[in-house]
Amino acid sequence: MVKLSKLAAAAALCAIGGLAAAGEVEVLHYWTSGGEAKSVAELKKIMQAKGHTWKDFAVAGGGGDSAMTVLKSRVVSGNAPSAAQVKGPAIQEWAGEGVLANMDAVAKAEKWDAVLPKVVADVMKYKGNYVAAPVNVHRVNWMWGSAEAMKKAGIATMPKTWDEFFVDAEKLKAAGLIPVAHGGQNWQDFTTFESVVLGVGGPKFYQEAMVKLDPKALSSDTMKKSFETFRKIKSYTDPAAPGRDWNLATTMLIQGKAGFQLMGDWAKGEFLAAGKAPGKDFMCAAAPGTGNAFTFNVDSFILFKLKDANAQKAQADLAAAIMGTEFQEVFNLNKGSIPVRLGMKMDKFDDCGKQSAKDFVDSAKSGGLVPSIAHGMAIAPAVEGAIKDVVSQFWNDDKITVADAMKRIATAAK
Ligand code: GAL
Repeated sequence: MVKLSKLAAAAALCAIGGLAAAGEVEVLHYWTSGGEAKSVAELKKIMQAKGHTWKDFAVAGGGGDSAMTVLKSRVVSGNAPSAAQVKGPAIQEWAGEGVLANMDAVAKAEKWDAVLPKVVADVMKYKGNYVAAPVNVHRVNWMWGSAEAMKKAGIATMPKTWDEFFVDAEKLKAAGLIPVAHGGQNWQDFTTFESVVLGVGGPKFYQEAMVKLDPKALSSDTMKKSFETFRKIKSYTDPAAPGRDWNLATTMLIQGKAGFQLMGDWAKGEFLAAGKAPGKDFMCAAAPGTGNAFTFNVDSFILFKLKDANAQKAQADLAAAIMGTEFQEVFNLNKGSIPVRLGMKMDKFDDCGKQSAKDFVDSAKSGGLVPSIAHGMAIAPAVEGAIKDVVSQFWNDDKITVADAMKRIATAAK
């Protein structure tokens, strides 16, 4: 039996090898949680169906900090993969190093300019040429609720304001539950922080303070209120939060041990992978006070310059697949995000997905569509790292006063 199946596998490999211009794609990503792994497996399937070999280069660690460190050392040693999960302004930095491939031929053939929102297309281009392919639109300003925990605590609906949120947090605490499931990396702290700033100050203030890093906004009373609210949330997390991965925090909701989690909609992918249903087992709602806004996080892959012709062909097929309708639907159904490609049907998506798609369009019109800082969408990686550190130090050390944190963030922003 063993021998037979080995033989069959070898035969299948030969058949694949015999296809015209089959090549290998090595893809660096950090999608290693349950929901994420299911999602990226769809891309692998599509590439294998085209006859190419998929070489998985997964580096664990939510938010991708570890993956970026590994990527740098690979590229420096002249051993870049075909593609890597890199997004936002970091795309420009990589392109500036001269290591990315010009993907205009595939972009033209697949009409990317026509099927992408211009703001997204611009981020994927360097000096007018496509160097990256976008995958999805994640919404970061979500809050997730555990139906089981909420029921135990007597909470009927998701809180809409921070005041309501703290009332519910008390109820969860009184029921012997952990009100807020939180984890321990700086990007998780900042994911909560930016939703608080957005909820307390609104989209206009968020733009001033978080995107433009305007000193006046950073030293304002609204910023003070944001830090105070942020610290208050901390008091509803459990002592085991430091060091915890985001998906393990989601598991606390799945198991009914914790009430709420402030996290982007990759958390939905985690609920779904665990067989949970939205509206029944878990709730999705905009983070308190942010119903009129949408913090976007667009995942994308940068494509590296390759020498081998077959590898180049495989890479072009990968880029085409990423932007193709088949992948945009199946990947995003699993990942929790919505397609970035325009004109996609949303009928297979659940209510959270439909809500996200609607709010994306509405907030773009109202001025509520804002980039996520926690997820690398707006500011240069070095500055982003500096302000993230300030926020995490404040979160982790109760001795740092709000006034101190405000001074530190203003300094880091410079
Ligand atoms: C985000 C990324 C998502 C998800 C999450 C957790 O930055 O955009 O795709 O993977 O981190 O790792």
